[in-house]
Amino acid sequence: MKFPLQHIIASSQFDIKAMMNVFSLATEMEEIVQKGGTELAKHHILATLFYEPSTRTRLSFETAMLRLGGAVISETDINFSSAIKGEILQDTIRVVASYSDVIAIRSKHKGVALLASQCSSVPIINGGDGIGEHPTQALLDCFTIYKQFKQQINHHKIKVAFVGDLKYGRTVHSLCQLLRLFSNVEITFVAPQILQIPDEYKTPHDVIEQDLTQTILQQADIVYMTRIQKERFQSLADYEKVEDIFHLSVSKVQQMKQGAILMHPFPRVKEIDLAVDALPQAYYFEQVKNGLPIRMALIAKVLGLA
Ligand code: NCD
Repeated sequence: MKFPLQHIIASSQFDIKAMMNVFSLATEMEEIVQKGGTELAKHHILATLFYEPSTRTRLSFETAMLRLGGAVISETDINFSSAIKGEILQDTIRVVASYSDVIAIRSKHKGVALLASQCSSVPIINGGDGIGEHPTQALLDCFTIYKQFKQQINHHKIKVAFVGDLKYGRTVHSLCQLLRLFSNVEITFVAPQILQIPDEYKTPHDVIEQDLTQTILQQADIVYMTRIQKERFQSLADYEKVEDIFHLSVSKVQQMKQGAILMHPFPRVKEIDLAVDALPQAYYFEQVKNGLPIRMALIAKVLGLA
């Protein structure tokens, strides 16, 4: 089993056994949440260092630690762009590690979580590193998919279409790697050329498309929609060329096949109409719910409590 999880930095740390192990612990955590929580992590402290906007990820990490019986300290307003440059990040991490037992970190810059892990005496969890990865979101996404498709996943091909900003979308970078741990998953990346999936996350088995055609919508078991990440574009003009390129209305989502699901890591901007939320395909609030037990499981694992 791969999983020598001191730190959680990238999806490549997981093999199928390690991921299933997290899922089974997360299932136990769901029951614990129903009962209001546990004292498992009593006397342990989680530090959250979030230097990019976040609602769900930071709050779900913090809720996860509180439901585990631990405590939380939080830092959200440092201008991290200077901290990444060498000594300052290392000093920050060393200082915070001396106050806490585990650190969840989000940064604008790819590679920061890895760098933090190299100078931390406590486990580091990557809560999103710029245009790099977001492994805990990918685990909760994969948990959502596994729960829905576990009867089929080892017998039938599951088709997943990733749609939107695949260049800057770190949740896609992490999730496509985890999905490949199942042998029967076919991935289609749907994006215009300038937002296509970077080579490092692509394999020769993947299908590359520019448009979200009716056929793709009708054949996919999972459509994973993402927002166009305006803040990461070099030029506003480039953003404006693609900002409205994908849009899902009720009538489009109704074309999806029976049993298919529509996912989104959130925040949603304008790519899925609010009216779609009432359809059975809309699964994004399920994803949000699954974030809590998954992050409880991960915190318990890295702390050596489970
Ligand atoms: C995503 C992120 O921050 O990468 N959100 C999240 O954590 N659920 C997606 C995004 O910002 O578009």
